[in-house]
Formats: sequence, C-alpha cells, structure tokens
Amino acid sequence: MNILFMGDVAGETGLRGLEKALPELRRSYAADLTLVNGENAAGVGMTPEQADRIFYAGADVITLGNHAFDRREILDRIDRDERILRPANLPRLPGRGRGIFEARHRDVGVLVLSGRFGMDYSPDNPFIAVDKEIAELKKSCSTVLVDFHAESTSEKIAMRYALEGKVSLLVGTHTHVQTADEQIRGGTGYITDLGMCGPEDSVIGVDPAWALEQFRSGKAFTAKTWPEGDAAISGVFCEIGNDGKCVRIERILKNVKL
Ligand SMILES: [Fe+2]
Ligand SMILES: [Fe+2]
Repeated sequence: MNILFMGDVAGETGLRGLEKALPELRRSYAADLTLVNGENAAGVGMTPEQADRIFYAGADVITLGNHAFDRREILDRIDRDERILRPANLPRLPGRGRGIFEARHRDVGVLVLSGRFGMDYSPDNPFIAVDKEIAELKKSCSTVLVDFHAESTSEKIAMRYALEGKVSLLVGTHTHVQTADEQIRGGTGYITDLGMCGPEDSVIGVDPAWALEQFRSGKAFTAKTWPEGDAAISGVFCEIGNDGKCVRIERILKNVKL
C-alpha cells in the first residue's frame, strides 16, 4: 500500500502549492491513501472552504493540530466530517482523534496526537493516551498511521521508541521544517517532522520581515502575515506491506512555481 503524507499547509501560498502539486504526486507515487495536515491553511486554523480545497486537491484525510481550534467556524465541520481528525488527546474539543479509512480494500487506522511541550489547549498525556488509541485501531486494522503534532524533537523521538514495531508509520508535524531522519525501525516508518506545504520564502510560513520585527522587538513570535511567491511542498511517501510493516520511506520536498 502506498501512502502519501504531506506536512502542515501554511497559508494561501501553501494551499495553492498543494493544489498544483498534489495531483501529480498522487499519480507518480500511485498513492492509495493521501493524508495532509491542514492546521495552518488559514495561517492559523483552517476554514471549511479550505478543507474542501484540500480534499479536492487529492487528500483523503486531513489531520489537524493545536491551531485548528483558533478558527471557530471549523468546529461544526470537525464534528460532522469523519475525514478530518484533531488530536485524540484533546477529547474535550469537538471532533474525533482517530478514524478508519479504506485503501486498496484494506482498513487503515489513522491517529492524531498532540505533544505537550509548548502546546496550547492542555492536551492529555500523549504517552498514556496512545496505547488505548492504538489498541482500538488494531482491533480491525493491521496498518496504523500516526501524526504526532509536537513542538519538541525529544517528545517526537521518544514517541518513536514508544511505537516502534507497533504502528506502520509515525510522522511528526507542527514545526514546519522537514527533518532528514526518515528511517524504518521494527517495521515502523518514521520522520521527526514532515515539513510544511507553505511559502518558500518565509519563516516557517510567516513573512520574514514580520518575523524579524517580532524577534527584534523581543515580542513573542506570532504568525500574522503570510507571504506570497512560490511554494515548497513537503511530506513523505511510504510503502507498507500486507502485514502492516513499512518497507520504504522517502522524503518529498518540492518547489512549486505559482
Ligand atoms: Fe503547523
Ligand atoms: Fe501546530
């Protein structure tokens, strides 16, 4: 089974880049299931219209993170649309954190979790929550994919040890910078961060001039202005055998002229 998992869509430039690149990526990798993290499609959060655009571009599943709840208009959609997943360890918020999707006549379980370090909305402990969530999915799925949406590399790498041999693929999201540590251990494909689908010329998606102004003035970094220009599209391709074990993982980083 061929899986495409693309990193956080950041702003209109990222969304347009994804729309332009994803159909060809799906074809060239013969993707059976395509997942996209959509939490920054609106810069901060994702509107229902942007969710439609991500699905139309070729996503089968949209995963979300901490920023998803900053746009209140998505809450009703998250509650109704089973193809959109928020972190499972935020159970007091609308929506769901895991789902089962059909790909190549097999059930594929998908789970989203939030890290705790530097993350808002006070998620439950992901290292405690993960066992129950995985056990539920494993009842009917030999293939399980996990998006661990976390700020710290240590939390993500620790989760790799927690899930090694237990899931097919574990990807990190949220930090928007792709790491070069893709690997397979015990049949589990892993990367610390997928990177983003966002403006190429930016500070993790944000306008560089705005980011510098924030840092020079000693303010906390806030993401307010999202530059135009070309896009960079990041993610991974992963091949999973019938036994649910990852046999190949490949980083994707593509510049897209807009
Ligand atoms: Fe993000
Ligand atoms: Fe995030």
